[in-house]
Parts: sequence; structure tokens; C-alpha cells
Amino acid sequence: MPRVQVGIVGAGPAGLLLAHLLAGEGLEVAVLEARSREYLEQSPHRIRAGVLEWGSKEILAQAGLGQRMLAQGLEHRGVYLAFDGALHRLDFPALTEGQSIWVYGQQYLVQDLIRLYLEKGHTIHFEHEVVGLEALEAEPTLVYRTPQGATERLVCEFVVGADGSHSLLRSQIPGAQVHQKTYPFAWLGILAQARPAAEELIYASHPRGFALFSMRSPSIARNYLQVPVDERLEDWPDARIWEELNRRLEGVAQVEPGPLLEKSLTPLRSMVVTPMQHGRFFLMGDAAHIVPPTGAKGMNLALCDAVLLYRAFKAYYQQKDPGPLEAYTPEALRHVWQAELFSYFMTTLLHTPADPFDDGLRQAHLRHLGQSPHLQRFLAENYVGLHTSGRYVGVLRAPVRG
Ligand code: DHB
Repeated sequence: MPRVQVGIVGAGPAGLLLAHLLAGEGLEVAVLEARSREYLEQSPHRIRAGVLEWGSKEILAQAGLGQRMLAQGLEHRGVYLAFDGALHRLDFPALTEGQSIWVYGQQYLVQDLIRLYLEKGHTIHFEHEVVGLEALEAEPTLVYRTPQGATERLVCEFVVGADGSHSLLRSQIPGAQVHQKTYPFAWLGILAQARPAAEELIYASHPRGFALFSMRSPSIARNYLQVPVDERLEDWPDARIWEELNRRLEGVAQVEPGPLLEKSLTPLRSMVVTPMQHGRFFLMGDAAHIVPPTGAKGMNLALCDAVLLYRAFKAYYQQKDPGPLEAYTPEALRHVWQAELFSYFMTTLLHTPADPFDDGLRQAHLRHLGQSPHLQRFLAENYVGLHTSGRYVGVLRAPVRG
């Protein structure tokens, strides 16, 4: 039976970044992914993230994975909040230590990570679906189905579950607790061949509901509308979406409709699994935690887990120090809860609730934020990334080999 040092299940941003970093240290890594390469690179049916924190951009660049992101991604030095019919700009470099964010679609990053991994001569086992994990306590063994339908096994010294929000491997942690929260809204998201509403993102609070105006390029807009959780996509023909986007932008900007490239609905929820490890098995990314999308933390959180695990495996294999692997859960949970806090804050600050009392509190908070550099700094430093920028967990303090 074949053996590797680290078996990684899932070729999303977190699994692929970890694979790059570990393989770069000469470790034997296997990446198994249930989907095809085409599916991962396009994934047209799901809302995908688009914002990289300052530290995420730095990690990718330092690891030699950021060439296209730096060339084609858009550096944004601020965002707008829109409320009471006016735009309020948050100037990130001024409110932080000179930091900014990068707008770059998750699909593009996944394409880059796949291409570069294969170019380095490594393998990704696409369409290899993991169906079980055996002998976790002794010699963790991944059981998977090959594209030809055969069931095979791979013995690993360690297994990492990076298999996304519908994770099969999450259930492998005995006694794990799952802390969850649901919100009474969903996001209707569109990607459109249309000019973005502004040169930077607009987070718009409106009595009719929240709307977000983002982009993928100067000619591709990525916009979202707060809708009730039970909303149906069929009830939203394109013209209605554009009309509603413009109503929620009233008085501050307008968008010109263009052809839709995709349209999707995503319910908002928060989830944290703890512990994130058991014996020789570790969970990371969406398999271990979900944030609501407001504030764009999900992908950054996944990349941060990958860097923590990379450093822990490096300590284990190069210094024979198991300490960082043993401390993975408490280390990771520090940045996980910080991101949960910020995502919850952004979600409740910007979405219009049904309860008028809750809405009064929310609007008071928003108006205070519009005037207070202190509150603006809280938002800005979380947005550009407290943990990946090194001020919180300090993941960047140790150099990452490129
Ligand atoms: C995007 C998504 C987000 O959730 C967000 O807060 C900002 C931007 C985006 O898809 O571009």
C-alpha cells in the first residue's frame, strides 16, 4: 500500500497552499480531491470569495504563488459604507499601518495554485473521492474511490481534512463540538459583465436591505442583495435584480445593467468546530469553520490555517518538535474567533433586521461608526486582517520559503 507523510483531502485554497508549502520543504504530500479540475477552476454554481487580506497577499507572494494575483488583482486602499443616502469612505492605509486589500477571485487563485503545483512536478489526484478514514489512532489510512470506480487505500503519517463546508472528515473528531449560528437572511449574488458601481467596494445599508457592490475587474461587477432565507432564484429575473440594486444605492451611485454571468443564493451562517484535531488528524478551512460572507473573511481564514499547519509540520519534521501540532487548535481558534467576531459584527451592522428595536440599535452603531475614527479603526484593521498581518497570531513572523 502506498504511504505518504501528509495526506491532504481537498484542493481548495487551504489544501493547495498547504500542499505547496509542505512540498516546498521536501515532504511527501498527497492531495486527493473529489471534484474534477474543470469543476474547481470554474465552479460557476457557487458564490466564491474575492478579497485577500494584506497578509494573505503577502503569504502568497512570499511563497512564490502570487505572480498573477499581483499582476491582475486589484489593490484597494479603502471601502465605502453607504447609509442615510451618503457615502463614507474608510481609508485603510491611514487607519492601519499602511495596509490595503487585494480583490482577486477565488477561482483565479485556485487556478494559479493548481497550475503552479503541477508545473513543479507534483500530482493532484482529481476525481478521487475520499469515503473513509481508518486506523486514525495508529496509522491513519485514507479510503478513496478512483475515477475508474475502484476502492483504494493510502497510509499517511498525518491526514489533513480541507474538504470544505460539506466536509465528510469533520465527523472524525470524537466528541467534537459544533458551535453554530444562523441568520434570517441570504445573499442573492450576481456576477455580471458590467462596470462596477464605484472604483472601490460599497457596503450599502438601506431600509430595503443590505447590498454589496464589488467587482472582479474594471468590467466585471460582483454584486449581492440581502434577501429572506426562503427566497427563490426564479423570483428574481435579471431586471428585478438590477432595479433592486439601484434602489438600495439611491442617492449615492447607480449601476448600469449588463449581461449576468452567474446568479446564486447563499444562506448566511457561522460555525466553529472544536477541537480542530484528533491524534494524527487535523481539520482546516471551511471544514472547520464557516463565517457569513460580510467582510470577506472565509478564504483568508482558510489560508491562515494552512500557514499555521505548515509551520507546525515543519517544526515536527525538521526540529522534531511536536509542540506546534499539539497546539494547533488553540492557536487556530484565536484567529477563527476573531474572524467570527468581525463577520458577525459586519453582518449585524449592515443587514436590515425585521425587529425595529434591533434596527434602531444597528443604525445608531452605524452613525457612530461614520463619525468615530476609533470604530473605523476597529473595522479597518479587521478588514485588512488582524491575524495574517502578524499583529494577532503572528503567522508571518517566521519566513515562508518561496
Ligand atoms: C466580496 C464578497 C464579500 O463577502 C465581501 O465582503 C466583499 C467582497 C466579493 O465577492 O467580491
